[in-house]
Amino acid sequence: MPALFKPGSNTAFRVTLFAFGFLAVGGGIAGPMIYVRSPFYTQIGDPIDQPVQFDHRHHVGDEGIDCRYCHWSVEKSSQAGVPQISLCLNCHSQIWNKSPKLAPIREAFFADRPIIWNKVNKLPHFVYFNHSIHVAKGVGCVTCHGRIDLMPAVHKAQPLSMAWCLECHRAPERFLRPREEVTNMTYEVPEGHTQLEVGLALKAKYHVVSRVNCTTCHR
Ligand code: HEC
Ligand code: HEC
Ligand code: HEC
Ligand code: HEC
Ligand code: HEC
Repeated sequence: MPALFKPGSNTAFRVTLFAFGFLAVGGGIAGPMIYVRSPFYTQIGDPIDQPVQFDHRHHVGDEGIDCRYCHWSVEKSSQAGVPQISLCLNCHSQIWNKSPKLAPIREAFFADRPIIWNKVNKLPHFVYFNHSIHVAKGVGCVTCHGRIDLMPAVHKAQPLSMAWCLECHRAPERFLRPREEVTNMTYEVPEGHTQLEVGLALKAKYHVVSRVNCTTCHR
């Protein structure tokens, strides 16, 4: 029987197979790499549905309640935390206590069960993050979360990717502000000064160091 393939075709086949394999592997790597950098994956700007329509504009914007009143652990712990219903009822047992929008809060309170808020900002489990150090070193909420005071429903404002974390960690002076201003959504450096001047002064004052070791965030 004549050989189906000429001896040389073997090499040609291998070359083709290699090329296809390469493309497949290439696509297998490059595809996800492009995808994880696209807004489809990072979900920047997508508001998340919540069990109660909590609107930061009414609470932070109009009422001027400080972030720390509700996210009270942000200065002390790794987590900022989302408030319990009893905290809502500090006010809402008196004001807007008949509002249908608050019905789920009242029901949950009397049934003694928590409201489960859907997470908007979420890092993979292999990443270590800590709120308190950022707040203590003068990184504002707005730098990472955007204008929460203008959001009817919270959406993710930044990619929270490794490149994004490192961008700041390499030279944090470009983002630092006085500690007293961390929850201020509209802070600006004083007139006649630049962010770099203010940032470098605060970097020295708060002993801020550039942290780019892998073990800073992967431990
Ligand atoms: C009156 C209470 C209250 C105040 C004040 C408040 N928040 Fe919230 N915040 C909530 C509640 C409740 C949620 C959960 C529901 C939601 O995501 O909207 C939340 C959610 C968030 C989230 C999203 C959490 C996630 O899942 O990723 C961020 C970020 C946030 N708040 C930042 C802030 C900042 C910054 C301020 C101050 C400018 C602030 N909040 C003030 C009650 C409050
Ligand atoms: C410090 C007082 C205070 C706390 C604490 C507070 N709220 Fe409010 N809330 C207000 C005020 C004041 C308004 C009315 C704002 C306006 O109309 O501008 C309001 C309005 C609302 C409304 C709109 C009601 C309607 O019918 O339009 C909802 C929903 C709401 N709050 C949910 C919550 C939830 C959920 C919590 C707890 C996570 C919470 N609030 C905690 C003061 C508070
Ligand atoms: C350096 C960036 C950065 C700063 C500054 C920052 N956050 Fe966050 N925040 C994050 C990241 C990242 C997450 C997601 C954490 C996770 O999934 O482990 C998050 C999550 C949250 C959550 C969801 C609950 C939780 O603890 O995971 C709330 C609420 C929140 N931040 C509020 C705040 C408030 C209020 C401030 C200012 C006082 C603030 N954040 C400052 C990056 C930041
Ligand atoms: C806008 C600036 C900024 C961004 C964005 C930022 N960081 Fe930081 N981070 C800092 C500063 C400033 C410090 C304090 C460094 C010091 O002096 O120890 C810090 C400290 C830390 C520490 C504590 C290091 C230690 O050894 O205690 C961890 C962990 C950390 N950051 C993780 C992250 C992660 C993860 C992200 C991204 C999701 C992130 N950071 C985004 C500015 C930032
Ligand atoms: C400032 C914080 C920070 C530092 C420092 C850091 N990483 Fe990451 N790393 C992250 C975050 C955040 C993610 C998650 C990215 C995502 O979900 O898109 C990540 C993800 C990863 C992943 C998963 C694959 C990927 O790209 O998503 C690997 C692998 C990784 N890091 C390795 C490293 C190595 C190696 C170093 C040291 C050279 C390092 N990281 C330093 C924050 C950090």
